[in-house]
Amino acid sequence: MSSLPNFLTSLLTLTTILTSSACASSKDCGLNGDCLESICSCDPAWTGPTCTTLNLIPLSSTSADNGVYKHDTSTSWGANVLFSSEDNLYHMYVSEMKNNCTLTSWIPNSQITHAVSKELTGPFEFKETLFDTFHHNPRLTYDPSTKQYLLFMIGGDLSSTSDCSGIPDSQGELYDTRIIYSSSKSLNGPWSIPSEPLIERGGEDEWDYVVTNPSPIIHEDGTTYLYYRGTPKYWDDDIALRGELPESVGVAVADNFWGPYSKPFDSPILSYMNEDPFAWLDPVRGYKMLTHGRDDPLNTHYAYSEDGLSWSSGADVACDANVTVEDDQIKVFMNRERPQIFFEGGQPSYLFNGVCPDEHYGYAYTIAQEINKK
Ligand SMILES: *[C@@H]1O[C@H](CO)[C@@H](O)[C@H](O)[C@H]1NC(C)=O
Ligand SMILES: *[C@@H]1O[C@H](CO)[C@@H](O)[C@H](O)[C@H]1NC(C)=O
Repeated sequence: MSSLPNFLTSLLTLTTILTSSACASSKDCGLNGDCLESICSCDPAWTGPTCTTLNLIPLSSTSADNGVYKHDTSTSWGANVLFSSEDNLYHMYVSEMKNNCTLTSWIPNSQITHAVSKELTGPFEFKETLFDTFHHNPRLTYDPSTKQYLLFMIGGDLSSTSDCSGIPDSQGELYDTRIIYSSSKSLNGPWSIPSEPLIERGGEDEWDYVVTNPSPIIHEDGTTYLYYRGTPKYWDDDIALRGELPESVGVAVADNFWGPYSKPFDSPILSYMNEDPFAWLDPVRGYKMLTHGRDDPLNTHYAYSEDGLSWSSGADVACDANVTVEDDQIKVFMNRERPQIFFEGGQPSYLFNGVCPDEHYGYAYTIAQEINKK
């Protein structure tokens, strides 16, 4: 009489384990949780059966509409924020298009703006144009070994177009491929004259003929892993037809952040196509990265690694472009990209993004969404 219920109990237990993607270690939990009795127990910032979904707190619809940075009608795209105890202000470095241009002519119209706020959630006020056209992809970090702030970015001097026209790909790719940095002892400057390009581009027939979207991890001994996006010679039809990877993430390494850099691999580090990496080192669990999905453009992806060199596929979805606002309502953006995290106590605290409310790669502004902490 008791054999059937026992059998059913075992079956149920087995089903539970199978459907909740049984884990064997923290690696099966995206390095974002512990594997307890074959089930992932996620750290507060993460959720989902494999802890690879960002645990985002709903935004108020006002915050989703107003964002944290809107400078008149100009488009902003990809904000990094750090706090300075020098003036008790939050400092934002963000790409901003000149002449009210939109993202369709980001080359040559992008420049780098410095904005400040008393609150992390804004509103950030425009302070200065730090690097005029063409500069893009700011990635701000602090290097404890040399005690200075570093602003990695791409670009070089190039005139804007007052009618917001683009420039030929053959010219644009020369600037899109210049990963450079500037340094400063203070978030209020002065910033050094930007460096020469740090990473050599690949050959014309290689996956990283264009090297762009820099995101460094600087270790305590100075060793630097510089993650970047590689693209073959601009939209070469032959390459596209052969189905090779138009936008993939790679790594270059150096003993110090200023280089010289070498590439340890001939191929990308993620098997799934992604761009715009934002990489960081979680001191407890390992190397982590958010990216914008290249084949899956409405989604932000997550990848993880124990050594910073050998990575998960990059196909896990951390969040999409639909922002949950109060009452479970959803605000749908046409684009939600350039994921950048603000950390508190080493843990993810806010996710910053560039968002386009109405038109694909049209006008964009900056939002910040809180990440769960308890
Ligand atoms: C941008 O657009 C606003 C609103 O139409 C206008 O007031 C401003 O002068 C424009 N700025 C430039 C640089 O074109
Ligand atoms: C996001 O919004 C779009 C448009 O309304 C919808 O088609 C899609 O299913 C939504 N995705 C999610 C995950 O809710």
